[in-house]
Amino acid sequence: MYLGLDLGTTGLKAVLIDGERRLLAEATAPLSVSRPHPGWSEQDPAAWIRAAETVLTALAAERDLSALRGIGLSGQMHGAVLLDAADAVLRPCILWNDTRAHGEAAEMDADPQFRAVTGNIVFPGFTAPKLRWVAHAEPRVFASVAKILLPKDYLRLWLTGEHVAEMSDAAGTSWLDTGRRLWDESLLAATGLSAGQLPRLVEGSDVSGHLRPALAGRLGMPADIPVAGGGGDNAATGVGMGVVRAGQAFVSLGTSGVLFAANDAYAPAPETAVHTFCHALPDMWHQMGVILSATDALNWYAGLVGEDAARLATSLGPLRAPGETLFLPYLGGERTPLNDAAIRGAFLGLAHATDRAAAARAVMEGVTFAFCDCRDALAATGTRIDGLIATGGGARSDYWLAAIATALDCPVTLPVAGEFGAAYGAALLGLMAAEDVGAEIAEPPATARIIAPEASFTDAFRAGHARYRKARTAIQGVT
Ligand code: XUL
Repeated sequence: MYLGLDLGTTGLKAVLIDGERRLLAEATAPLSVSRPHPGWSEQDPAAWIRAAETVLTALAAERDLSALRGIGLSGQMHGAVLLDAADAVLRPCILWNDTRAHGEAAEMDADPQFRAVTGNIVFPGFTAPKLRWVAHAEPRVFASVAKILLPKDYLRLWLTGEHVAEMSDAAGTSWLDTGRRLWDESLLAATGLSAGQLPRLVEGSDVSGHLRPALAGRLGMPADIPVAGGGGDNAATGVGMGVVRAGQAFVSLGTSGVLFAANDAYAPAPETAVHTFCHALPDMWHQMGVILSATDALNWYAGLVGEDAARLATSLGPLRAPGETLFLPYLGGERTPLNDAAIRGAFLGLAHATDRAAAARAVMEGVTFAFCDCRDALAATGTRIDGLIATGGGARSDYWLAAIATALDCPVTLPVAGEFGAAYGAALLGLMAAEDVGAEIAEPPATARIIAPEASFTDAFRAGHARYRKARTAIQGVT
């Protein structure tokens, strides 16, 4: 039996799988985000540990965890957990969707060594600019920083007592030499840091440490079972979805939206605002276009009109051509392709006839057009996408999947009901570390349905995307 833990932004999820990779049980605990100032997004790492205790206690009530053989971790990327020399948390974790460090990010991005070494733009949500912000705004905290951990690696510290990161998440810090898979001293020095303040690096499918006996005893787990390096949530989802070979790709409709493609070589193209990161498996990389608000945009709209987002998304009937109303989903700035922390969302083309459903369709179309931008950015790097597997909460909406298939003119595969996301990928990485097996066990899930592009609407969606591009150019700089 193997355990996967995924530390998401809105909840922590645990899954148990057996040696045949079948799902045995799952449990989740909610997490909330604190936004004390505009653009800020924080969580208290102590809440993650409480959530982990909750899900593990729930699983232990359901299954005998003494049969557990390995654990894997996955989580929201880029967050900065700052620890003092006694491993005490110095301040709330600054999350991936926090944009306070946009000025510091622009400064660092203007230093050519960052793009040259990491293969990526220094985005405001990445870890390094957060540390430069802390150095300026909270110098006493900065002076006490003994270790910097990514969110899931704080769970690892609790599980194993070890400070360890793995390559896929480390690639989102702006301190990793992404091609050579090691920390870069010069980038750390440019942030006023040294390698001793960062955790040891392992590959995602390697053993990173072993479960602490005290914790194991309390939760009824065997002591000393291996904890795998794991992966950033997107790389772990890639493993869970079997997206581990060039040509394979997935589209994730979560809080953020991700168009993810596996690559068998390191091929950076920072000028496109595509992210080029290590995969959670050795000698593999991946590229992704990231949009900051996917289901987040629909949740925002549903809250505004006092509706349930899931009900809205599943009640729209068959696909229609994009309407007059256009939505730009930049609620918290945008990464791919804009790298613009200041841009904000917009509704355009509102008319007397725009009702709740028309605006809901516009929100989902806007997110879909943002994925078209990501597809174009990936294509500009030469990355090929043969087909897409859909994942994330938004994939429960047939309307959204039909819009994506049609707008991207690419078949979208919906897996059979089940868990193939980040927590499942983390459990597979736990299995790989415990049993010394590799990528061959990461296979695409069985298909429930393939959603083909609706040929009668492809032209309308192409025109809709052109209109969207024009609109985003028009609103850039209008803040
Ligand atoms: C990826 C990113 C998001 C978070 C969400 O670069 O910022 O997908 O990992 O959890």
